Amino acid sequence: MQRKVIKAVFPVAGLGTRFLPATKSVPKEIMTLVDRPLIQYAIDEARAAGIKEFIFVTSRGKSALEDYFDTAPELEASLRKKGKEDLLEVLKQTNMESGAIAYIRQHRALGLGHAVWCARRLIANEPFAVILPDDVIAGEKGCLQQMVEAYEETGGCMVAAMEVPHDKAKAYGILDVEKDMGQQVKVKGMVEKPEPGTEPSNLAVIGRYILTPQIMRNLNRMRSGTGGEIQLTDAIADEIAAGRDVYGYRFRGQRFDCGSKAGFLQATVAFGLARDDLRDEFSDYLSELVAMRNAAQ
Ligand code: G1P
Repeated sequence: MQRKVIKAVFPVAGLGTRFLPATKSVPKEIMTLVDRPLIQYAIDEARAAGIKEFIFVTSRGKSALEDYFDTAPELEASLRKKGKEDLLEVLKQTNMESGAIAYIRQHRALGLGHAVWCARRLIANEPFAVILPDDVIAGEKGCLQQMVEAYEETGGCMVAAMEVPHDKAKAYGILDVEKDMGQQVKVKGMVEKPEPGTEPSNLAVIGRYILTPQIMRNLNRMRSGTGGEIQLTDAIADEIAAGRDVYGYRFRGQRFDCGSKAGFLQATVAFGLARDDLRDEFSDYLSELVAMRNAAQ
């Protein structure tokens, strides 16, 4: 079985209702942390992991996302004329080799599993990665790269995993652990958004996956799961039931839930403080703000 992962699926069809009214006209994935859209972080992480083919599962109203990865001849010409080499360099991150990026429409919002299944013909018979751009992970080495390296040893399916407080387990896919090997766990079951108190552990799935093409065949069954949606978690759990290996990978890095407002704000602060050009001014401001708040209390 091939263990080189060069394709990645980015499910970006969601309506982003939690960020209305902004998402009425701006795709959630274009919302920015400092000055880079969420999707740029996901693409950079994929590139660092060796991904060469980028498959976006989109929906109506996401054309800004397609434009983002296009060349911008007028803008580039104007920057060149003004000698703004630094900004031209910044724009380079958004360039994609022709044919490296594909867009597939998910015509109906039937769940994450269904969105991934929409890419089945492009995946064909190869292992592939899935990246959920809502989960932004900061760290020295990208989360997907860590997983790709581990996967070269293990094969099977692999999901990024992180301990969460038990009362938050209901928001995630949760792993039932067979064997804990530290960085990796072998999984004997998976539950999508368990009812409070029924979670098999507090080890949650975070939005990075390396999957075998068999997952697409499992998704063919179109089984409806939690919330009446076709769940990726269930298609992975089917692998365990069929006797094949599934691993959870405890990545190194800090994860931000940019699918929630609080998480997005936290990421904005953290990424702002991490920037050389902003750190001093921004941290002075934050210190003043905290001091003022404390004084007022
Ligand atoms: C999705 C997955 C879930 C996973 C989560 C990670 O849920 O279905 O298993 O734990 O992403 O962010 P969503 O957040 O889209 O509801």
